[in-house]
Amino acid sequence: MNRKLLTLAAFTFFVFSILAQKDAGIFLILEPAKAEETISRHIYGHFSEHLGRCIYGGYWVGEDSSIPNTNGIRNDVVKALRQINIPNLRWPGGCFADEYHWKDGIGPKEERPKMVNTHWGGVTEDNNFGTHEFMELCQQLGTEPVICGNVGSGTVKEMSQWVEYLNFGGISPMADLRRKNGREDPWGVKYWGVGNENWGCGGNMTAEFYANQYRRYATYCRDYGNNKLFKIAGGAGGSDFQWTETLMKEVPHHMMDGLSLHYYTVNWSDKGSATEFGEKLYFDILKRCLDIEKAMDRHIAIMDKYDPEKNVALVFDEWGTWYDVEPGTNPGFLFQQNTMRDAMVAALTLNYLNERCDRVKMANIAQTVNVLQALIFTEGEKMIVTPTYHVFDLYKVHHDANLIPISYNKPQYSPGNEGESLDAVRISASKDKNENIHISLVNMHPHEGYSIKLNQKIDNQKVTGRILQSEAMNSHNTFENPDNVQTVEYSNFTIKGGELNIKLPPMSVVVIKMEDGG
Ligand code: AHR
Repeated sequence: MNRKLLTLAAFTFFVFSILAQKDAGIFLILEPAKAEETISRHIYGHFSEHLGRCIYGGYWVGEDSSIPNTNGIRNDVVKALRQINIPNLRWPGGCFADEYHWKDGIGPKEERPKMVNTHWGGVTEDNNFGTHEFMELCQQLGTEPVICGNVGSGTVKEMSQWVEYLNFGGISPMADLRRKNGREDPWGVKYWGVGNENWGCGGNMTAEFYANQYRRYATYCRDYGNNKLFKIAGGAGGSDFQWTETLMKEVPHHMMDGLSLHYYTVNWSDKGSATEFGEKLYFDILKRCLDIEKAMDRHIAIMDKYDPEKNVALVFDEWGTWYDVEPGTNPGFLFQQNTMRDAMVAALTLNYLNERCDRVKMANIAQTVNVLQALIFTEGEKMIVTPTYHVFDLYKVHHDANLIPISYNKPQYSPGNEGESLDAVRISASKDKNENIHISLVNMHPHEGYSIKLNQKIDNQKVTGRILQSEAMNSHNTFENPDNVQTVEYSNFTIKGGELNIKLPPMSVVVIKMEDGG
């Protein structure tokens, strides 16, 4: 049968199956035999800035702290992040990156100059956490560093020397300085950001000006030894398609491995509370999250126009929700609670990034600890994880797995069944290197459950699942009640005559695993 006939047959089967299975709700077609594109684990990356209590208090407590630490880095946070296999960590900003001078953060701590963190609360930054401490953190986490250099207020020489300090193994001024500071071997940093939001806090540049600056800075970020830098150009904010167009047009593609994009799920004119909201605002945030997906497709279409071979990756290196800070906290510290609504945003985002893994090769949620859509909160010696953390834990099965093409009918969700609507359910599926299939299902609908029926026959396969669910859309974890929202095993599915039928409860995230030998 030729390809057209096959597609027609699949479509006819799809329509008839839906008609025949009215009660099934959603009929899901998986095509594991066509799973080719790899979902880079780097899509599950993180971002930690010198902002509020992210670095200081979040990771770094210092060697003399009574909080259990290894070389100044808290053990509890490292343990929690190792559990979800964080693939990379972007640092030191953010806006902070373009006023950070890396030489202030090396050498004996008592000699490091202090600076004012003008972006984030005007607090004094004592530079106790610098290059060596960050590389130690990455080593403890078993994660790849992603360093963002300073274009806005730095120099080409400064950036070039930072790369030399990190990556050159021979005799040179910067390699010798590194050795003097206690590190013999180069670290071999691969992922390198050339500035951050250079249309805004990174220097208020025009796209044309930045494109030229990028070419200069990137030229002097050298590859040392076998280490080939993966250079990421500072990309657009939100729907600034012209920025993407200019960069794709003006920067030779061999100089740019990735082009970034930042997009926060937020209503800038009224951010609202992270915890006090009703269904209208729940819906509004999910809608904004999916609006970003549409905008991302426009950025991708522009990239496709200039780079049909997909040599330049889209790097979504800042994403997440942004609300009003928690009452009584420093407005510059961006500390917000994290609820089931945020878990939905995380799961939806990761599902749609999986689906675009042919172009999106890296993404970084903002920010890992105590800031914006955090995965972890710390308070003194206490630490808890958030609903968003649990989504990353559930979804780690997709790391470096192959995306399975899927199709399914999409029932709609609109609050009160009137007005605008969204797909109630979003799904993504992958096949890992052991041929296990994982399906991640998100049901945004707070009141309706769905039955998901699969096209595949389950022969001799073991099926298991885990779920993140809560009754209330603003359910969250606190230091007093740390496990209020957490994942549990899930087995509300049936296999009859080899047909798998998954019950997807309202407002839930479920990951199903199908493995051979059941
Ligand atoms: O994540 C907080 C800030 O948001 C970052 O510093 C900046 O890049 C963005 O505007």
